Parts: sequence; C-alpha cells; structure tokens
Amino acid sequence: MATSARHDLVIIGAGPGGYVAAIRAAQLGLNVACVEEAPALGGTCLRIGCIPSKALLESSERFSEAKDKFAAHGILCEGLKLDLPAMLRRKDQIVTTLTRGVEALFKKNKITRYLGHAQIEGTGSVSVQGPAGPSSLKARSILVATGSKPATLPGVALDGDRLATSTEALAYPKVPEHLVVIGAGYIGLELGSVWRRLGARVTVLEYFDRILAGLDAEIAAEAKKLFEKQGLEFRLGCKVTGARVENERCVVNVDGQEPINCDRVLIAVGRVPNTQGLGLENAGVALDKKGTIAIDGHFATSVPGIYAIGDVIAGPMLAHKAEEEGIACVEHLVTGHSHVNYDAIAAVVYTQPEIAAVGRTEEQLKEAGVDYRKGVFPFRGNARARTLGQVEGSIKLLAGAKTDRLLGAHILGPHAGDLINEAATAIAFAATSEDLARTCHVHPTLGEALREAALAVAGRAIHI
Ligand code: NAI
Repeated sequence: MATSARHDLVIIGAGPGGYVAAIRAAQLGLNVACVEEAPALGGTCLRIGCIPSKALLESSERFSEAKDKFAAHGILCEGLKLDLPAMLRRKDQIVTTLTRGVEALFKKNKITRYLGHAQIEGTGSVSVQGPAGPSSLKARSILVATGSKPATLPGVALDGDRLATSTEALAYPKVPEHLVVIGAGYIGLELGSVWRRLGARVTVLEYFDRILAGLDAEIAAEAKKLFEKQGLEFRLGCKVTGARVENERCVVNVDGQEPINCDRVLIAVGRVPNTQGLGLENAGVALDKKGTIAIDGHFATSVPGIYAIGDVIAGPMLAHKAEEEGIACVEHLVTGHSHVNYDAIAAVVYTQPEIAAVGRTEEQLKEAGVDYRKGVFPFRGNARARTLGQVEGSIKLLAGAKTDRLLGAHILGPHAGDLINEAATAIAFAATSEDLARTCHVHPTLGEALREAALAVAGRAIHI
C-alpha cells in the first residue's frame, strides 16, 4: 500500500554529502527525510570508495613493509604469507561498522530513512519505489545529493568481473597476475598500488603525458619516479581505444601500439554525475554544459525549492567537498547565511608516499599571472621522517610575492594527507608563509617540514 508523509526537507542520497546535510538540518530543527536506494547508508565513499580502498591500502602497505622494510628495523618475517580473504574481510568489517554508525546517527538525530529509488515529481514532491512499496513524500525543500558513478570508455565492454571498475577492484578474489589500469588518476594509482604491493604486475595506461593531471606537475613527476621504483609500469600518452574479455583473458587496444594481453583490467578514467532517473528533466531542473546540475551561489537549482550538492554539481568529486556543501546548503536554507571556501579544499592521493594538495598549483599561478614565491623542503631534512624511515618526497609552499599570503601547498611524503590540513587552515585564515614560519612546531614531528618549507619561502630554512 502506498504511504505518504510530509517533511521540511527530503534529501536524495545518503553519501557524505547527503547524510551530513541530513544531520546538520536535523540539528537546525528541520524535520528531515533521506532516501537511499542502497541498503547501507554512507554512499560510494563508505561502501565502495574512500573507506574500503583506504582499508586495503593500509593492509597492503603493511604486507609490503613486512616483506621489504621490516628487516631494516631488525624484524625478520620468515614464512610471510598473504591471507587475501582475511584482508578483504577486515575491509568489509570496517565498512559495516561505519555504515552502521551512520544509521545510528540518523536515529540519534531523528532522521527518517526511506529505502528505495527516489524520483522528483516536481517542486515539493518526491516519490520513492522501494521494497516496502511506494511512498509519496511532500517537502518544502528537496536536496539532490546522488553522487557519481564510474565513467566508461567507448569500445570498452565491461563484464563486471575481469574488465570492471573500482567497485570490483576492491574485491578481486585472488591477486591478478597482470592488472592493466586505464587512467593514472586517484583511483588508478591507489588501487594499482594495492594490487602491485600484493604481487600483481601492474601496467598503468594514461592518455596524458603525465600522471595525476590537475595536481602540481613537479610533485606528480617526483611521485611517478617513486611509483616506478615500487614496480608500477606506466605508459603515458597512451589512448585506449577498446578492451574486451576473451577466453578468460582481457585484451586492451591502444592507439598505434600492439594490443596488451592481461588477466584483469581496471577502468579508472574519471566519474560522471548521477543525474539519470531522478525526474530532473520532468521537474525542469537545468544541467550545465558538463552535464552537472546548474546551481547558484547557494546550491539552488533552476527550480525553486530544489537544491543540489556534491558530485552532481561542478567541482572536484571529493567526499569532504560534498560534506562542506551539504552543511552550507542547509545552513543557508535555515539561517540565510553560509559560505564554502573552495580555495581551502584539499585533496589527497593515498599512495605511498601520500600526495596532498590545497590551493593553487604553480601552473595555475603562472597562467593567472600571479607573482609568487616558492619554498621547498625535502623530508630527508626532517628528523621524524628519518625515524619513520620515510624520507622520500618534499613539501612545496607557494605564497604571494607581495602579500606573502599562502596560495598553495603541495606535499609528497609521509602522512601528507594529515599534514595538508594545517596548510588548509592557514589558507582559510588568510595566513602568510611568515605566520606558518613563526609558529613553533613540536619537535620531532613531520609538521616541522611544513614550517621549514614556510621558512624556505623567505630563503631561511634551517635544516637544509
Ligand atoms: P581521475 O580524473 O583522477 O583520473 C582519470 C585519468 O584517466 C585521467 O588522468 C585521464 O587522463 C585518464 N584517461 C581518460 N581517458 C583515457 C583513455 N582513453 N586512455 C587512457 N587514459 C585515460 O579519475 P579517477 O581516478 O577515476 O577518480 C574519479 C574521481 O574520484 C576523481 O574525481 C577523484 O577526485 C575521486 N577520488 C578521490 C579519491 C581521494 O580523494 N583519495 C580516491 C579515488 C577517487
């Protein structure tokens, strides 16, 4: 039997954008509902993205350290063996714990959860088709937070097993002999690293003549050399024109080159917004040129009462960017005020070492004609990095030539993903490199390398 209900806000999608927006809206006193078609809450990030990949990155790095690095610490691991099913179970348990955590947060905040597929019927009206039957929801506001899905390539016939996306690469039942990764972006490098560490031969094919397009070119080039030392093979300037499965093997066609034969292919050529099947066309919600939902400065779409955040709108497809937008969107709805500082949204690639960035790259500053000064500090000059045995990489800070304001931070090195938050805070508070350089940092910590890079902007780093 069809049920109906009325809410202040109906959110479609329970990923980091949607569920965080739901909690914030509930805190602000709204009667909130969230519709999610997957049985577990948390979206791509928690179920089949950020979290399971980080769990495998952690486990595979431990394995690789035990194999290649523990001996230097005087720890000998004779008879070291990989128990892949146990590694995959650990990952699944982490996902279950976190998705149940979101369920608990929904209960605590009295958010009504609908299981099923939502369609917008028009302003203020959403229908849900789910296992419990259809529901018809009325709402003052609707927030679309449906995220994204992996992009595909023409001529690449995915079979959901050997020739597949990151979802399948999080659960290969055995270590591939030869994995071909299409795309040297975040996903390709993270999951390529996981399977390389566990013993696969990994070949990464990239269309551009560099890896990690969009990140600082110098840092990306330095990272590529380190990944090659770890055994990742790169073929740059390589256009994949097709791929298929043939007799339990995969064949990948590359423009102007011999086809590559391998046992698995991971396609990681970006993601596309989930805007299909939501009734957006019927409701009259306009998309922009890139197929993302067009919004104004406060996440309002072209239709009054319908809002959108996260991967379905323009900008980097990052969980924390979606969270920030979710909070800002509902705060604006309730209070009339909110702001997202897009200059202070960092990004992290969880390879070994990690790569992290916030603000502008050198290339962007040059293109915009902004005069800047640069401070670089290598981790080999940092005592804590020495004790960790992780001295590869460096920190590069970019500051305005006249203002000294921090404009960008680019880190390749141990715990870059944690270190970058200090730089993001500095950018958010419009700090100068001098502010960072004058802040006493604990010794011995990796954070001292950030301070040294700030000192290096004015040519006065101590330990180099
Ligand atoms: P990406 O945009 O980072 O990289 C895709 C790569 O594929 C690009 O370098 C592109 O040039 C290449 N490519 C495209 N067509 C090709 C072809 N025909 N032949 C060869 N190469 C080709 O996309 P990715 O890695 O799939 O990640 C998707 C999104 O998910 C990203 O926007 C990223 O922000 C997000 N993500 C974030 C993570 C994190 O924060 N640590 C981890 C994983 C994903």
